[in-house]
Amino acid sequence: MSKAYDVIVIGAGPAGYVAAIRAAQHGKSVACIDSWKNFDGSTAFGGTCLNAGCIPSKALLESSELYERARHEFSTHGINTGKVSLDLATMQQRRAGIVKQFTGGINALFKANRVTGLFGHGKLIAPGKVEYTPHDGAPETLSGEHVILATGSAPIELGSVPFDGTRIVDSWGALEFEQVPARLGVIGGGVIGLELGSVWKRLGAEVTVLEAMDDFLFMADQQIARDAQRQFRKQGLDIRLSAMVTGSTVSDSGITLQYKDKGNHEVEVDQVIVSVGRRPYTKDLLASGTGVELDERGFINVDDECRTSAPNVWAIGDCVRGLMLAHKGSEEGIAVADLIAGEVAEVNYGVIPSVIYTAPEIAWVGKTEEELKKAGIRYKSGTFGFAANGRAKALEQATGMAKILAAADDDEILGVHIVGPMAGELIAEAVLAMEFSASAEDLQRTIHAHPTLSEALHEAALAADKRAIHAINK
Ligand code: FAD
Ligand code: NAI
Repeated sequence: MSKAYDVIVIGAGPAGYVAAIRAAQHGKSVACIDSWKNFDGSTAFGGTCLNAGCIPSKALLESSELYERARHEFSTHGINTGKVSLDLATMQQRRAGIVKQFTGGINALFKANRVTGLFGHGKLIAPGKVEYTPHDGAPETLSGEHVILATGSAPIELGSVPFDGTRIVDSWGALEFEQVPARLGVIGGGVIGLELGSVWKRLGAEVTVLEAMDDFLFMADQQIARDAQRQFRKQGLDIRLSAMVTGSTVSDSGITLQYKDKGNHEVEVDQVIVSVGRRPYTKDLLASGTGVELDERGFINVDDECRTSAPNVWAIGDCVRGLMLAHKGSEEGIAVADLIAGEVAEVNYGVIPSVIYTAPEIAWVGKTEEELKKAGIRYKSGTFGFAANGRAKALEQATGMAKILAAADDDEILGVHIVGPMAGELIAEAVLAMEFSASAEDLQRTIHAHPTLSEALHEAALAADKRAIHAINK
């Protein structure tokens, strides 16, 4: 007899493991299957986010920023350190330690919530039937009243610059470099390119970012993107726009990347990170005839409530449409578990924050100015520069700005965009405000402690009505 569960989750990334825990909180019997294997062959729950994404990248971003600040900023504060040197092995051990602690934490959460965690491959063979193959064992069939597919995504490989695992790597490989590359090429100036490009630049690499699009961070508000681009260039990141990489030649002396803008160009580097986006991962997930449909790009087709085209089969996270972000997947996981338990639930897709953890950080929620213009929505805009923010000055990080876009007719906040210190933390206030359909006036009347970075948001809201106090209203 096959083992039976109320819910079987395939994939234990931030979408799948959160769904599993929430379903268990509803009193369901839950199994969560995950096939992740680390470079050393060890297994771990947590998916891309914990093992090779959000968590390790932020650990290295923090360490490398401290290194940079110790070398270039401490003396401004009157702190003389002598020569600051890099111990990359220790930095990498710290990163690995944080990952281990967090992935181990999921085992503990599963245990506490009575989720059965299974390492191995999961395959939907029919609605309600999953074939589970342990890493070192024979397949067995599990039954589940509901099945949640949460298999995530994988890096896109460029045919013209194939991965070799050492010199040409994806983001995971780039987190595990044991030496700082002398000349690092980054293909794709998106989120990963900027975050990991920043890490290795701060640690001493000469970094060239080749980005195919004409606009820097085309998905972000362009006023914010231009400000960020100026600051990254000042830091020495060589960002080349309109640079579509078309080929590579590998030799003992280095890797030559060929790229096109108006003409043909080349750049020679020692190592390459290919960060040109990610694709949904559904390899060997669906037997034929399950009734689960994929779209033309390979994402699992779902409705607004994450139901697939097969009965009682749901799909969440990076393997379905929408932003490829951990918190988006987690919220879908919670909503699906609630729906399975018979509750009302929905994900507010219009209010998902995006954060790029560079220095300065970039964060936004809601519509950009370009999107509002395109949609013909009348709006007002207020900005406030961190140069006039006391806390930012004390932090020696008084660059960038906060920007609020609000509807011209009823004052509702439509978008908030920040480039500056701790933008990723500051955006939470804007997300909450938008979740409650707040107006710019609501933010204006909300008391912000002084001196804090959040005062920049307060002033930006005031500026939307030309009432900023610490800036000249135009
Ligand atoms: P995943 O985390 O990819 O998990 C899917 C899991 O399913 C994996 O463990 C996989 O092994 C397993 N699996 C796949 N197929 C099967 C199968 N058939 N059987 C069993 N198991 C299977 N997002 C943020 O929000 N903030 C960040 O700061 C951030 N930083 C990132 C940095 C990097 C370098 C990268 C690469 C990504 C980053 N992301 C970040 C994106 C984030 O990691 C993903 O959006 C998130 O991990 C998606 O969660 P998921 O659960 O859908 O998929
Ligand atoms: P991305 O979509 O952010 O950026 C890829 C970039 O590569 C694009 O700007 C694209 O124009 C460019 N590109 C594509 N082909 C190219 C070519 N041949 N030559 C030059 N440029 C080319 O994808 P990225 O950075 O790989 O990240 C994948 C996803 O992971 C992100 O979309 C994001 O959802 C997630 N992520 C989130 C993070 C966060 O929340 N802080 C951090 C890292 C990743």
